[in-house]
Amino acid sequence: MNLDGSVPGQISQAAAHLAAGELVAFPTETVYGLGARADNDVAVAQVFAAKGRPVEHPLIVHVVDATAALAFTMALPESAQRLMAAYWPGPLTVIVPRRPAVAAAAAGGQDSIGLRCPAHPVALALLRDALTAGVPGVAAPSANRFGCISPTTAAHVRAEFDAALWVLDGGPCEVGIESTIVDCRATQPVLLRPGQITRSQIEATLGQPLGWRNTHSPRVPGSLASHYAPRAPLRLMNAALLSQALALLGEAPLKLAVYSRLPSRTLAGSAWVQRMPDSSDAVAHELFAVLRHFDEQGAQLIWVEEPPDTPEWEGVRDRLLKASST
Ligand code: TXA
Ligand code: MG
Repeated sequence: MNLDGSVPGQISQAAAHLAAGELVAFPTETVYGLGARADNDVAVAQVFAAKGRPVEHPLIVHVVDATAALAFTMALPESAQRLMAAYWPGPLTVIVPRRPAVAAAAAGGQDSIGLRCPAHPVALALLRDALTAGVPGVAAPSANRFGCISPTTAAHVRAEFDAALWVLDGGPCEVGIESTIVDCRATQPVLLRPGQITRSQIEATLGQPLGWRNTHSPRVPGSLASHYAPRAPLRLMNAALLSQALALLGEAPLKLAVYSRLPSRTLAGSAWVQRMPDSSDAVAHELFAVLRHFDEQGAQLIWVEEPPDTPEWEGVRDRLLKASST
C-alpha cells in the first residue's frame, strides 16, 4: 500500500502505523529502510521475518536528532558525540553502548546499538511525527530481502515485499549506498562499513586514525561474503583486463552486461554496455539501480570495471567486492 511522502498528511499516517506496531518502508538519503518502532520487540520481530534476516543480526535505530538518541544509550563516547555533531543528519551510523532493557530485539541481543539520524526530509518528518506519537526511534534495515540488493526507489521496495506493506514514497535516494558505520565504543573507533562519508573525513573529524576490524568486531551482515549480490554472477576486472576480455569475446554466447568507464569504442561488440560515471558519488547514486536493471533485463553475466583504489571510492568498491564474491 502506497503513501506519498510529498503529502504531509500521509507522512503522519505512516507515523501512526509505526506507532501501532506496523511496518512501514520509508526513504532515507542512502537507501529505503524497512521500519518498525524500536521499543517494541514484537514489531521488530516482524522486520526480521519479512526480510528473512537472522535474528541475531542487529538493526540500526533511526532517531530525529541527537537528543532523541539518548533514549537508547546512556553514555555517548566522545568520539560519537563529535561524529554526530559533524555529520547528523546524514549518512553516518554510530555504534555505542546500549541502554539496558531498551530495544533488545532491534540490537539483536547485543549490548551495543547502532544509531543514525537520516538527512532525508521525509524521513525526518516521519521520525518527528512518530516521536510525537510516542515512538522514540525507528529500527530499520535496508528494505530488501536478506542477501539481495538494497532498494533506492519505492518501486524497488514494492518488488521485494507483499503488497500489504506500507511504503512511503520519497523519490529516488540521493546517496545510493548505505551509511558509513563507525564503532565508537573503543578508545580507537573502528570503521565497520565504508560509505559516502569517507574514512579520511572521519579521521579528520576525530583527529585520530580509525582502527581496523578484527575478529572481535560485532556481527555485521554487510560483511558477509555474498551480501548485496545481483542474481547474475558479477566479475570485477581492471580496465586493461576488461578491454582484453571484450576484444577476445566476439559474439557473446551469453547475455553479457558491462558497467565500465572505458571509451565506448573499446566496448563495441555484442556486450550490452552501461557507461559508469566518473565521480564516485554518481556511481554510488545509481549502482544498485543499475545492478537491479541488469537482473531485470535478464543479464546472465555482469562484468564491472574496478573503480580507483582511492578513499572516495571505498564505499563503492566495498559494495562491488561483496556483489562479486560468490
Ligand atoms: O544507510 C543505512 O544505514 C540504511 C538506511 C535504511 O538507514 N540501513 C541499513 O541497515 O543499511 P542494514 O540493516 O541493512 O545494515 C545495518 C548494518 C548491519 O550490517 C548491522 O550488522 C550493522 O549495521 N549494525 C547494526 N547495529 C549494530 C551493532 N550494534 N553493532 C555492530 N553492527 C551493527
Ligand atoms: Mg542491508
